[in-house]
Amino acid sequence: MEDPKKFLFVLSAAGAAGFVSIIFVLRWVLHFKEGLAWDGGLAEFNWHPVLTVTGFIFLQGIAIIVYRLPWTWQCSKLMMKFIHAGLNLAAFIFAAIAIVAAFDFHNAAKIPNMYSLHSWLGLTVVILYGLQLVLGIGMYLIPITPVSWRRAFMPIHVYSGLLLFGSVIAVALMGITEKLIFGLSNPKYKDSPPEAIFVNVLGVLLVLFGALILWIATRTSWKRPSEQTLHTLHSNGESEANTKVGPALSELADGTDTESGGDVRRRNNKSDNQAD
Ligand code: HEM
Repeated sequence: MEDPKKFLFVLSAAGAAGFVSIIFVLRWVLHFKEGLAWDGGLAEFNWHPVLTVTGFIFLQGIAIIVYRLPWTWQCSKLMMKFIHAGLNLAAFIFAAIAIVAAFDFHNAAKIPNMYSLHSWLGLTVVILYGLQLVLGIGMYLIPITPVSWRRAFMPIHVYSGLLLFGSVIAVALMGITEKLIFGLSNPKYKDSPPEAIFVNVLGVLLVLFGALILWIATRTSWKRPSEQTLHTLHSNGESEANTKVGPALSELADGTDTESGGDVRRRNNKSDNQAD
């Protein structure tokens, strides 16, 4: 890996931003709001921000960068695909329960559903995320899917994954702003009471978490090396192989861009297997 210290620093910063966001959302609902319950009231609605932040944002962020963690590189690619899919599935389940909580609360309080831009975009990202999950499992976990399909689909999978992650954060920021406007009456949001400041900071932390995850996910030099390279590393011994194949690692692209990995493959006269 190129610049492992920088990687660790950015990863720790992302982990800290994500972890503190979870603490903040819990403190918001438990200290400033009505707490948590499943009773059709405001305490049930509070599951909505808690589950979207912990599941849909935090777990999804970890799922995106899980292949990048160097200490997982000795695990098989198949195992990592199961972990990636499992984390995304957990994120989807959290998001689905979060939406049920919001609908339940609206129905019990006779508030109309799906009137806001937040709700339109929110439901859209959850549906598209579900589609991304089904297509991802179909393409990369079902053994009979042709490798040519996997390679061709990979740039779309990566692009839509990153787009959805960014959109989920944008949707959360809209929801947070709406809730602060609805929920604060005396003093109002514009008067900057402690809750408003506290939850504004939560929004900033979510943006920071998203920015750091996207930074890690878009660094070519921090990608999991190809299976052939890892195999070479294992058979030659880590330190010796590092000096021999190290420079090639930074050039290697994921299955995400099989085209740009082409030079290295041609030089090595090996076929790319990252989309496998
Ligand atoms: C990040 C992922 C999120 C998604 C996908 C999402 C999705 C949704 C959806 C689909 C609804 C419509 C429910 C209905 O009409 O009955 C809704 C409502 C709502 N959400 Fe979110 N939400 C997210 C995060 C948040 C967060 C973090 C908050 C902060 C409290 C929030 C606040 C609200 C509020 C106040 C409503 C009710 C008003 C409205 O329908 O706009 N949301 N959300």
